[in-house]
Amino acid sequence: MRKKIVAGNWKMNNNLNETKKLIKELKNELKGFEFDNTRVIIAPSFVNLQQAVKKTEETKIEVSAQNLHQAKNGAFTGEVSAEMLVDIGIDIVILGHSERRAYFNETDESLALKVKTAIANGLDVIFCFGEQLEDRTSENHFKVVEEQLRNALFGLSSEAYNNIILAYEPVWAIGTGQTATADQAQEMHYFIRNLLAKEYNDALAQEVSILYGGSVKPNNAEEIFSKPDVDGGLIGGASLKAEDFSAIVKSI
Ligand code: 13P
Repeated sequence: MRKKIVAGNWKMNNNLNETKKLIKELKNELKGFEFDNTRVIIAPSFVNLQQAVKKTEETKIEVSAQNLHQAKNGAFTGEVSAEMLVDIGIDIVILGHSERRAYFNETDESLALKVKTAIANGLDVIFCFGEQLEDRTSENHFKVVEEQLRNALFGLSSEAYNNIILAYEPVWAIGTGQTATADQAQEMHYFIRNLLAKEYNDALAQEVSILYGGSVKPNNAEEIFSKPDVDGGLIGGASLKAEDFSAIVKSI
């Protein structure tokens, strides 16, 4: 049975004290929550990962990085390798976020390399993709999403999908307060699962968790998560408040 997942992408927010405080509050809010088949993940910034790992040690909350570099090591000033993340106890990384594509020139091609490196190092990958507003208004959204997945992921072996979590994040819904409707999310997730079934096989397609991201809040999470092909969410703004994030976790 595929996992339900709620992940909080903290982006470039929270200093060390704020990180510790938010984790403490989250632990309180999630006391008594039955994790069962659900993974709860937080993604603080690089500098606070080590402390986040320490502060979540005795809990089921998992810690993810927000990026990595594809090379093993070397002269890449300012970058962080997969090995460095694994070394401090990280086993998940977010790759391909639309902000990294838009502001840091990440492409499907460079992302394909990053995904390979992450998987070779045993990391789980939360792979983000999604169309721009103009792609949706011109009804090209399915084509754009298919291309993003084909270019970055479809070179992978079936086994690699044990480590892949997909996160559909329509760019027009990120940080805008404008969420895709639950039906729009379901329609795209169903399309993606079918694509996986065609490219690989149905068993694999049924096992890959597909998250929705883009203005998920406590008041819309339950409806979005109720859709059969929506296996959880990647949460931005609302993951910065323990009360909101845990309310979203509890609606899974
Ligand atoms: P918001 O939830 O703030 O729209 O952000 C979504 C996101 O980008 C998660 O990665």
